[in-house]
Amino acid sequence: MMDVRPGADFPPDLFHALLSQQMVYRCDADDRIVDVNPAGVRLLGYASAQDLIGTPMADLYASPEDRGYLHSLMREHGAVRDLEVVLRQRDGTLVFVLETAVASPRAEVGDVDSSYWGVMKDISDRVEAQRNQLHTNLELAETNRLLKATQSRLVQQEKLASVGQLAAGLAHEINNPLSFIISNLDTLRSYVTALNRGLSAVEGLIPEDALRDHRQIREEHHLDEIAADLEDLFRESRHGLDHITSVVHSLRTFSRSGIGQSQTMVDLNEALESTLVIARNELKQGITLHRDLSPLPPVSCRADEINQVILNLLLNAVHAIRSRHTDAPGTITVRTLAQPDGVVLEVEDNGPGIASQNLRRVFEPFFTTKPVGEGTGLGLSISYDIVVNRHRGDLSVSSEPGRGARFTVRLPLSGETEET
Ligand SMILES: Nc1ncnc2c1ncn2[C@@H]1O[C@H](COP(=O)(O)OP(=O)(O)O)[C@@H](O)[C@H]1O
Ligand SMILES: [Mg+2]
Repeated sequence: MMDVRPGADFPPDLFHALLSQQMVYRCDADDRIVDVNPAGVRLLGYASAQDLIGTPMADLYASPEDRGYLHSLMREHGAVRDLEVVLRQRDGTLVFVLETAVASPRAEVGDVDSSYWGVMKDISDRVEAQRNQLHTNLELAETNRLLKATQSRLVQQEKLASVGQLAAGLAHEINNPLSFIISNLDTLRSYVTALNRGLSAVEGLIPEDALRDHRQIREEHHLDEIAADLEDLFRESRHGLDHITSVVHSLRTFSRSGIGQSQTMVDLNEALESTLVIARNELKQGITLHRDLSPLPPVSCRADEINQVILNLLLNAVHAIRSRHTDAPGTITVRTLAQPDGVVLEVEDNGPGIASQNLRRVFEPFFTTKPVGEGTGLGLSISYDIVVNRHRGDLSVSSEPGRGARFTVRLPLSGETEET
């Protein structure tokens, strides 16, 4: 057996604490306070040591079961160093401390007295500082998130601007040759028609005995088939050119090179009705149109541009419904409503909706999921530019894949809009 010299395990912390402002206590085998220094009385918010003597240590803990944990550590190691503990002051305020405890130095070997000494080092300031730090971090994270959102909006606008410049140049380059190709093609077509007519007239003069040779020559050179084909070729070419024209037109609107129309006071319900007339043909087959319109105050805007936005949204809805390849009835709902500071127009369809990974991208220039030749991917980016940049409004989309999509246009009542 070995003697335990009193004070041998007396930790330097304890000596230090005795001299400092830290709480020092001693408790008996039942873990009730036997003695506590003035710093401890102050720390726990009592008037005198007498108020604390006899109090079970566990009662001073914010969670009494933590005291049980300390006991188990004491049993195992004979001492505990810097255990983080939360104490409850007399008035209920919580104090964060680091508790260091040792078996009572007076305990002799074989002594069943399991009383011990402890020191409580107040770390509330540190915890408070950490909490503030955490709070600051959370605020920073929020600021960061807002910055990112602003940045992605800026990037979007920047993208629109640079594509716009590119588009302006392209549209200009293509537009002139396109006009004379279309004009020449129309002339060519009328010339060919005239030539055919002339040839038929000449054929009328062919004498009876030469008709047979004539027919043979026609066959050898496939003249009849060529004549029949010509009409199709002209029609398809014209079709293709019309498509190019509409793309170029879109590009020009996109690049704002179009002639700026001035702003007028517009009733969005009227704009909607006139656009529905234009889209009537598209809306006819297999689509039910629901109107859910509210009276609106007039808003200052460029009517032709807003009409173009509405048309884009309507046509996209029609295409979406058609793309389902089912006979299930397609429905498009147009909705308007007045808000305190603006007007809202919604176009909603029950088409296939938009996959969540595409939702962010639909407003990007040239983003399209349509087959080559069918979609330009410009409709929504132009619309975004018109509504957001040129009218200080808002254009948003929400969609539940499989259930359809809803596009929402918001225009401010008193929109300081961008000059053309
Ligand atoms: N109502 C809608 N339902 C489902 N998808 C849509 C709808 N409107 C737009 N989209 C998606 O957004 C893409 C971009 O639309 P848009 O800019 O008008 O170009 P485009 O119609 O030429 O493809 C479409 O290709 C389509 O994938
Ligand atoms: Mg479109």
